[in-house]
Amino acid sequence: MSRYFTEANSDEIVNARMGEAVPPRLRQVMAALVRHLHAFAKEVELTEAEWAFGIDFLTKAGQMCSEERQEFILLSDVLGLSMLVDAINHRRPAGATENTVLGPFHVAGAPLRAMGERITLDGQGETCLYTGRVVDLRDAPIAGARIDVWSDNAEGFYSVQQPGLQDKWNNRGVFVTGADGKYDFIGIKPVSYPIPDDGPVGKMLAALGRHPKRPAHMHFMITAPGYQRLVTHTFVGDDPWLDSDAVLGVKATLIAPFEPAEDGRTSWRSPFDFVLTPSG
Ligand code: BEZ
Ligand code: FE
Repeated sequence: MSRYFTEANSDEIVNARMGEAVPPRLRQVMAALVRHLHAFAKEVELTEAEWAFGIDFLTKAGQMCSEERQEFILLSDVLGLSMLVDAINHRRPAGATENTVLGPFHVAGAPLRAMGERITLDGQGETCLYTGRVVDLRDAPIAGARIDVWSDNAEGFYSVQQPGLQDKWNNRGVFVTGADGKYDFIGIKPVSYPIPDDGPVGKMLAALGRHPKRPAHMHFMITAPGYQRLVTHTFVGDDPWLDSDAVLGVKATLIAPFEPAEDGRTSWRSPFDFVLTPSG
């Protein structure tokens, strides 16, 4: 290899600069990143104007970030990278409930509620009874599972997106299973909504002919001692955006029944069992 930079040796010469004492994992990750970045620029013969545009895009994404807004996570989500990293890190045995994206709207510290309680505080939307069990791979109930749930409101906004308008805990709650592993709570049948698209990621989606919509879903984060944390959603089966979710989060096994309820307590009923995977 030449001692100096050439187009042909570009990635190798950058990686050769790494010091002896670099920890092996950092070495592996950075070397691969440089290799793939250079291969990308070579494959598309990146022009100077295009790279300047790319730098400007990344700068604007950074400037869009605040306590409430994380444009880089959104970028990772729409590029499918969030789902890929999740898939690599949460390979599960057959029968176990699958993960999907966490998203930016989870708020830690939601109120602990009694089974059967309502999470919808604004009285809007079509009511839905969520019911089922948290079980292990052998279908045995898991006691003490902590079920943290959150959804948008009837207009497609999470409480944190409308701080003055919605109660912070509207459509949020935590439930803990008893010995039978059963859960039930009343929320709304969620509605589809656009991911925040007023920034550079939204512009990128529009330029690529992609819409920003997510199909309607209820979020669940379930933890229990001795089991892997499950971060997932259940999706409303007849949603028109199921096949084109802006963040690629839909998995066939997460599409849940939403059926008209017959007991008059709620308009809808959505039964779904969560199967946890042992940790370790
Ligand atoms: C969500 O489901 O809340 C979400 C996920 C990824 C990006 C934006 C929103
Ligand atoms: Fe969501």
